[in-house]
Amino acid sequence: MKARIAVLPGDGIGPEVIAQGIRVLHTLAERFGHEFELTELPFGGAAIEACGDPLPPATLSACREADAVLLGAIGGPKWSGPEARVRPEAGLLKLRAALGAYANLRPVTVHPALADASTLKREVIEGVDLVFVRELTGGIYFGEKRRDAHSASDLCIYTVAEIERIVRTAGALARARRRHLTSIDKSNVLETSRLWREVTTRVMAAEFPDVKLEHQLVDSAAMHLIRRPRDFDVLVTENMFGDILTDEAAMLAGSLGLLPSASLGKGRSGIYEPIHGSAPDIAGRGIANPYGTLYSVALLLRLSLGLPEEAQALEAAIGAAITAGARTADIAVPGTRALSTAEAGAAVLSNLPRRT
Ligand code: IPM
Ligand code: MN
Repeated sequence: MKARIAVLPGDGIGPEVIAQGIRVLHTLAERFGHEFELTELPFGGAAIEACGDPLPPATLSACREADAVLLGAIGGPKWSGPEARVRPEAGLLKLRAALGAYANLRPVTVHPALADASTLKREVIEGVDLVFVRELTGGIYFGEKRRDAHSASDLCIYTVAEIERIVRTAGALARARRRHLTSIDKSNVLETSRLWREVTTRVMAAEFPDVKLEHQLVDSAAMHLIRRPRDFDVLVTENMFGDILTDEAAMLAGSLGLLPSASLGKGRSGIYEPIHGSAPDIAGRGIANPYGTLYSVALLLRLSLGLPEEAQALEAAIGAAITAGARTADIAVPGTRALSTAEAGAAVLSNLPRRT
């Protein structure tokens, strides 16, 4: 098949991990007989430097026209002071909103070989297999912001329609998995959460009666996530709770560097990015973990390009590389030599199937 992929390396370790994603895409295209047209575009801090805009119009239009967007990471100390006029993060939020990417899927699984890389006990995390469905284009991230000399406010607002559509995404996903959905809110305090709980209950009862629905308050969910993570299947929650809980959930897998994400809207296209940030502390050293990006590439192949076989081959190759001990510093066994980003990428390439 032919596909156009907009590639946004971004800042910090973004370009380093994206380089491995590009290698893998080229190799898969060759081995499986596809034509992937990859276009690299300026985004984030890098684009602020180049033209003062974290999401230049040419980058946005290329993303709109592409079959999928592959993104590295954005941000850095240079653009993050309280006095910064324009921030890389604004570009990311604008991109998500412009593409209508309201459903952010963040799967968390524990590779058996990495159970000891986690700060949590092996017996707690072994066998974890859950997916977060984070609402991505609403809530406090996008409500009106105000600031005067004495105060500041961020409005958290959700419409019924926004909640309905994300619950449908989560319900359908749960139906295809273990048919258990946990909806996370703060309905003992927030009005938006009371609406969230009401709408979720109604949509699930009417459209997904075969899926078991459970409600949890966000504070308690944060606790249960590390106490009994195996009990979760699909979790649906609003934008900010999802942001916070998925960083926490990454520790189940062993490292933030392992987790992929897919941000989807109405159409087939989507934005694929590792959930980690630009990690300015290790940027430029070639030691970042590329697996979160490579798992994101697998999601891109499956969900936007409709190539499940290729996606599966890539996931298996990452898994095999990890089993064989190909570990970057964040997941390395203490006392052993950690692989560089490029070496980890090469280990995955060497486990991809040959041309059939
Ligand atoms: C994420 C990131 C972003 C978010 C930031 C960079 C705006 O933390 O994708 O989780 O908060 O959504
Ligand atoms: Mn985050």
